[in-house]
Amino acid sequence: MTTTVNISSTNPSGIPHTLFVCTTCASVWQDGKRQGESGGQKLLQHLQQLAQNWNLREEFPIQEVECMSACNRYCVVAFAAQGKLTYLFGDLATDGSASAVLQCASQYYAKSDGLLPWLERPEPLKKGILAKIPPLVRSTKVEG
Ligand code: FES
Repeated sequence: MTTTVNISSTNPSGIPHTLFVCTTCASVWQDGKRQGESGGQKLLQHLQQLAQNWNLREEFPIQEVECMSACNRYCVVAFAAQGKLTYLFGDLATDGSASAVLQCASQYYAKSDGLLPWLERPEPLKKGILAKIPPLVRSTKVEG
């Protein structure tokens, strides 16, 4: 079952941000069925718990997703916002990485382009970067 925590939101400047969390990561499967709670579900719960006291909880909603195609690098999260770089991070521990994820999300939120230099990222998000995707650029082509 997929439950959406929050789908999207906007910050005061009008830019929507989303923290995606894969809830299928670190699952144990038997006969095609998931056994118990996955590592990704546990990470999501830790993030939701911490986010209750996060100053960006309204501006940077958490959205669970079933897979981001980085399954062998679990646990996996992504930061995305309109007009910013999109980041995909893996190799995150189920326990103990939620605080670092929210810290990094705050850094991402503060940058107009979302750039997260290696040196500035919290330790758990330094090694496991899987993708840094450029923002979409609107065409300014003028017809006439
Ligand atoms: S199972 Fe988490 S990225 Fe595929």
